[in-house]
Amino acid sequence: MLLTLRGRWGRWCENGPVNDLPDRLRELLLDAGYTIDGVRERLGEVAATALSREETVPALRATRDGDLLGTLIRLWWLGVPVDAPAALPVAELAAAGLVTAEADRITATVHLQPWETGGYVVSDRKVRPGDPALRRDHVVGAGGASANLAQLASRRPVERALDLGTGCGVQVLHLADRAREIVATDVNPRALELARLSWALSGIKGVDARQGSLFDPVADDRFDLIVANPPFVISPGGRFTYRESGFEADGFCRDLVRLAPRFLAPEGTCQLLANWLHVDGEDWRDRVGGWLTGTGCDGWVVQRDVQDPAEYVELWLRDAAEQGTSRYRELYDDWLGWFASMNVTGVGFGWITMHDSGSLDPVVRVEEFGQRVELPVGGYVDGVLDSITRAHRLADAELPTARLALADGVLEERIGPPGAEDPARIILRQTRGLRRSAQVGTVEAALAGVCDGEYPLDPLLAAIAELTGENPDDLRAKAPEALRPLIAEGFFHISTG
Ligand SMILES: C[S@@+](CC[C@H](N)C(=O)[O-])C[C@H]1O[C@@H](n2cnc3c(N)ncnc32)[C@H](O)[C@@H]1O
Repeated sequence: MLLTLRGRWGRWCENGPVNDLPDRLRELLLDAGYTIDGVRERLGEVAATALSREETVPALRATRDGDLLGTLIRLWWLGVPVDAPAALPVAELAAAGLVTAEADRITATVHLQPWETGGYVVSDRKVRPGDPALRRDHVVGAGGASANLAQLASRRPVERALDLGTGCGVQVLHLADRAREIVATDVNPRALELARLSWALSGIKGVDARQGSLFDPVADDRFDLIVANPPFVISPGGRFTYRESGFEADGFCRDLVRLAPRFLAPEGTCQLLANWLHVDGEDWRDRVGGWLTGTGCDGWVVQRDVQDPAEYVELWLRDAAEQGTSRYRELYDDWLGWFASMNVTGVGFGWITMHDSGSLDPVVRVEEFGQRVELPVGGYVDGVLDSITRAHRLADAELPTARLALADGVLEERIGPPGAEDPARIILRQTRGLRRSAQVGTVEAALAGVCDGEYPLDPLLAAIAELTGENPDDLRAKAPEALRPLIAEGFFHISTG
């Protein structure tokens, strides 16, 4: 079902003989320097950083000259009325529903901002403290979470991709260069209207936009890649569609994970951001790991952050500009009371990646790390899954003939008292990818120094035993337990057979 636009912004995307307004507007915006770099340069470090905290005063000061770029930033990013620049086709933009015009002043009806792909993202106007309450079907703009998912998503070229909960359509901007066919869904029809504007303005054609909840709109489809920045916020009411599903607690993300495999093509991957509850007496790893159990997919779950209940509630009340409103205390109290009724001690935020490899012995790794990782993770995420599954499925008996190679960029650190003959600790540290570190023994460290994928493990262990004076049979016996975690964590790559 292709969505036909008949709504407020319908004329923008109508197929008249020639509707070149999106192309002309894009050209105008690019010529004026309304790009990520152009805006950053124009605002300068201080105003740009203040804007990332939703403080607009420095940016307003930096854009008061009345030139075209400054005016565009004020109109479509900062959301203040401006004198209509002669360069803008005001009547056409008003007819398309992007501005309202009164005398020579124009006001934006949408938030329209450049995005890192070189395209543009259109959403509802941003809410800032003091603004009227958000409408229930508010369409949120691209932000930190959008960028998080975009950098996590696999860069592998695919035939068919699904963006579930497309919102302003930003994930499609990222998928466009590597998916031949893209389906984008959202439960909110206004989101699909705005997403269409984003795609038109970014020069992206042929996206199949479908309205409906979860996987309902794609019931008979299969995809090589599914991405979702879902309405993951865990709240009592489900007040805003852009962030809350109305499902009980973290049930939306759980159901998405459980249902996704039905919509994956063989070797397909599903990647999503998620929030999950930490409940007193329950290990969060069991909770989230349990979502993937029985799906038949290999999985990798990473917790990137945990907030206590109060921090979490404050974050999301702030997000909807509800700080300082008359309902703030009541909403805060209700939300905390609801968490307390479920014995919630915190809320975790992280990434979930699932891969349907068709294996009868799937593995799910659940872990937590906060370190800065190399971006984009999507450039190497398939390799991360591959390391996890290889380590899991490697039989002990295969190890002696397997060839190990140290991953690129792994360094060794030796720490100990100055002058000591032997170090107290040896650490292998990845300078690339996930930038993991692992404390290792002398044998693994020696192996890291010599293995380059050329020789099988067994003769290397024999040589190390000779050098260190250890019994070679002891080393062989200990090798699977010592090496399997280092293979799973990508310190060593392995080839068998
Ligand atoms: C956090 S926004 C993500 C928007 C965009 N994909 C991004 O990455 O920024 C979540 C989106 O999910 C949509 N949504 C909410 N409930 C949904 C449901 N039951 N099924 C599908 N989409 C839903 C919302 O309308 C919203 O557009």
